[in-house]
Amino acid sequence: MANVTIMDHPLIQHKIGIMRRKTTSTKEFRDLVSEVAMLICYEATRNLPLTDIEVETPLCTTKVREIEGKKLCIVPILRAGLHMADGMLNLIPNAKVGHVGLYRNEETLEPVEYFCKLPQDAANREIYVVDPMLATGGSAEAAITILKKRGIKKIHFLCLIAAPEGVERLQKAHPDVDIFIGNMDERLTENGYILPGLGDAGDRIYGTK
Ligand code: PRP
Ligand code: URA
Repeated sequence: MANVTIMDHPLIQHKIGIMRRKTTSTKEFRDLVSEVAMLICYEATRNLPLTDIEVETPLCTTKVREIEGKKLCIVPILRAGLHMADGMLNLIPNAKVGHVGLYRNEETLEPVEYFCKLPQDAANREIYVVDPMLATGGSAEAAITILKKRGIKKIHFLCLIAAPEGVERLQKAHPDVDIFIGNMDERLTENGYILPGLGDAGDRIYGTK
C-alpha cells in the first residue's frame, strides 16, 4: 500500500492556516500555494538517489554528491496545480513540466479530461503529480491513470489539503503512488467540498469567483 506522509512542519501549518481564511487576498493565496508546495517538495524529494562526483574547489579536488540522473518531471493538474508547480521549480529548476487538464463535473463530481501534454521522455522520468486539493480523489485518480497509460511508472502525488475519502480512493486505485499531504481535513460536504477546507482552490488562485 502507498505511503501517506502528512506534513507536520510549523511553517506549513502556519501558511495553510492563512490560506483557509476567507479574507486572504487572491495574490497572497496564490503566493502561499507556491510556498507550501515548495516546502512539501522538500520532503517529497528526500529519497532521491545521490551519486558521488569529483569537483575542483578553489583549494583542492574533493568529492561532492549530486542527484543521480536528474530525470524529474512535475505534472500539475490544471488549473489549480499550476502554482504548486511554480513553487517546486524554485527547488528543482531543471525538472520538466507536463500538464493534465481536468475539471470536476459539478453534478456527478467525476473528472472530465480536456488536456494532456507531457515531455517526450516522460516514461523514463520520476513524476510528481500536483494539485492543491484531494477531495473525492477522482481528479488525482484519473490524472495518474492517464500517466500510467502513457507508460509512466514512478509517480508521487502532492497536495496541500486532503479529505480522508480522497486519500482512501487514491490509495485503492493506485497503491504504488506515494502521497504527500500538507493538512488532512475532516470530511467532504455533500457537494464534494473539503471541510473545513479553503473553498475552491482554482477560483481563489485566479479570482474567478
Ligand atoms: C479542483 C481541484 C482538484 C479537484 C479535486 O479542481 O483543484 O483538481 O477539484 O476534487 P476531486 O478530488 O473531487 O476530484 P476543479 O475541478 O475545481 O478545476 P479547476 O482547478 O480548474 O478549478
Ligand atoms: N476542489 C476544491 O478546489 N476545493 C474543494 O474543497 C474540493 C474540490
